[in-house]
Amino acid sequence: MTEARATTLPTIAFLGAGSMAGAILNGLLSPRVEVTGGIRVTSRTAAKAASFADVASVTAYDLESDADANRKAVRGAKLVVLAVKPYLVPEVLAEVGSELASDAVVVSVAAGVTVATMEAAVPASVAVVRTMPNTPAQVGRGVTGVSAGTRATADDLALVRALFETVGAVVEVPESQLDALSTISGSGPAYVFLLVEELTKTAVAKGFTESQAKLLVEQTFLGASELLAATGADPAELRRRVTSPKGTTEKAIEVLQAAGLSGLFDRATDAALARARELAAG
Ligand SMILES: NC(=O)c1ccc[n+]([C@@H]2O[C@H](COP(=O)([O-])OP(=O)(O)OC[C@H]3O[C@@H](n4cnc5c(N)ncnc54)[C@H](OP(=O)(O)O)[C@@H]3O)[C@@H](O)[C@H]2O)c1
Repeated sequence: MTEARATTLPTIAFLGAGSMAGAILNGLLSPRVEVTGGIRVTSRTAAKAASFADVASVTAYDLESDADANRKAVRGAKLVVLAVKPYLVPEVLAEVGSELASDAVVVSVAAGVTVATMEAAVPASVAVVRTMPNTPAQVGRGVTGVSAGTRATADDLALVRALFETVGAVVEVPESQLDALSTISGSGPAYVFLLVEELTKTAVAKGFTESQAKLLVEQTFLGASELLAATGADPAELRRRVTSPKGTTEKAIEVLQAAGLSGLFDRATDAALARARELAAG
């Protein structure tokens, strides 16, 4: 007896087949997901399209071999995922607009491109959903912010939620909060990697070899994350369990807090938000 599929999704077209599309595709290719009607992807180069030759459920088109690649890919697709660089979104929508199915849902992962811009570029019957995934989607541990456009129904939103749940968790927010969400979870993996880099340098300075330092720090981050996930405990409580009164950890935490770590995160995310606004203003 075969195990029932956990998720069933309608025909999906990815316009753009780079890192982000690849991450979501990984989720869709899991045995627990069935995409009825198949998956189409498009790329600029034939070389990228050729990399899907061995993936039976994916039909790849490229603009190098066929100027109609994007238009062909969206025909009859229910979900059309815009996974090109943000500056290309208006151009790609202008190209495919007239070929979109009347009940299609255009799902953008492009940073900074507004629902209003996209809704203006597609026929009035086509719904738009704007999203902000993050790179841990590559390993099924992403978190994606999802904002419904003005025409998206609850069913459309449920489909988009199901799509991104194949690669992690989903948080629905109004579009006005999506840039702020991006400064937390979109950019967040970079903050974590920076902390890993810095603590590794500190470990080397304390006399450990590069490989020992890497093992100590990376295993500590992974272990702490797993502990947080497995216990579901409040992180402040987990921190207290490592921090005996008048002990060594307490001394280190005092130094980090005296340096204004929480204010630093406020300023870092404010800077990211200000940059998002500058980019949106062109
Ligand atoms: N990477 C992230 O961390 C991240 C996180 C959140 C959101 N995003 C968003 O995801 C989007 C894609 O980013 P990415 O990092 O995946 O970029 P990427 O790796 O550069 O991928 C872009 C893809 O678009 C293809 N392409 C270029 N022009 C095209 C066209 N006219 N029609 C169809 N496909 C075309 C490229 O084809 P070739 O491969 O042949 O060049 C490539 O496969 C961006 O809008 C970004 O804001 C990315």
